[in-house]
Amino acid sequence: MPSQPSVISPDLIPAELYPVINALCAVSIDVAAVIAKGPLGQSLGSQVGENTDGDAQKALDVLADEMFEGALREANVRWYASEEQETVLTLDPAGKYALAIDPLDGSSNIDVNVSIGTIFSVFDAKDEAEASFLRPAREQLTGGYILYGPSCCLVVTFGSGTQQYVLDPDTKQFVLVEKAMSVPATSKEFAINASNYRHWSKPVRTYIDECLAGKEGPRGKDFNMRWVGSLVAETHRILTRGGIFLYPRDGRPGYENGRLRMIYECAPIAFVIEQAQGGATDGETPILDLAADTLHGRTPLIFGSAEKVAAVAAHHELSE
Ligand code: AHG
Ligand code: MN
Ligand code: MN
Ligand code: MN
Repeated sequence: MPSQPSVISPDLIPAELYPVINALCAVSIDVAAVIAKGPLGQSLGSQVGENTDGDAQKALDVLADEMFEGALREANVRWYASEEQETVLTLDPAGKYALAIDPLDGSSNIDVNVSIGTIFSVFDAKDEAEASFLRPAREQLTGGYILYGPSCCLVVTFGSGTQQYVLDPDTKQFVLVEKAMSVPATSKEFAINASNYRHWSKPVRTYIDECLAGKEGPRGKDFNMRWVGSLVAETHRILTRGGIFLYPRDGRPGYENGRLRMIYECAPIAFVIEQAQGGATDGETPILDLAADTLHGRTPLIFGSAEKVAAVAAHHELSE
């Protein structure tokens, strides 16, 4: 049994992965407590550095990374790849698993009290560190996220549907609330950072123009738009009420493959979405059929209601 006290019921969690999931959940309870203190505690949103991918590193990015890394040393994890680490760390040389993590997703929202999260993905550990992560995303053993929102929840898949657990603040236990989440097949809601309009390719602009044209346009309906700036919050909304999320490639230097990183953002999000009957592609190809070429490699990401994502892929309208 795990070295950590149990904070989640083992019911739907494969026994050999339970120590990893339990460690992630145990740390997330501590991260949630740090976040809940806000300015009453240490300064969480101050910039303390820059990571390999060029992101400003906030204090909470680094603190969360240290907290997860420490706990995962006792959870049968050999290789640890993090947004906040340049290279793969060795945790337990005899460990069975390779874990990729975005310790704190949505860092720009730390200071403004908007939902943020942690995203994780687990493969079986190969003998070579990077090779354990640079492989088809469909080989993931588990993937998911913790959302530090008005309520704290875990959404996870082991390849047999997508489950949701909610942290009970009274008992400090994650309780199963949904055995099989399902993305509504269609929706009128799209999520994109519209301030990048001038950088998009023509097909992306056309697609969004048509959404903005409402009933007068070729798509014939009025759409609603959301953009939170936290991938975990967008994912949870779409898993709950449908929608389509787009972070396409754009013309800015460094954004030729968009902004989101494959192994610790796109692959685990695609896994939970596909397991909930949604779609997730790079505009054409299912994300789960792709492999990252470098640890912090990026990919365009379009995911959400299956009909919406398929329509985009069918017309190859966003893939240029
Ligand atoms: P992170 O904070 O882990 O670096 O991730 C931020 C990501 C993702 O959460 C969000 O969807 C996206 O960045 C927002 O990008 P823009 O700031 O370009 O809108
Ligand atoms: Mn970042
Ligand atoms: Mn992120
Ligand atoms: Mn992050």
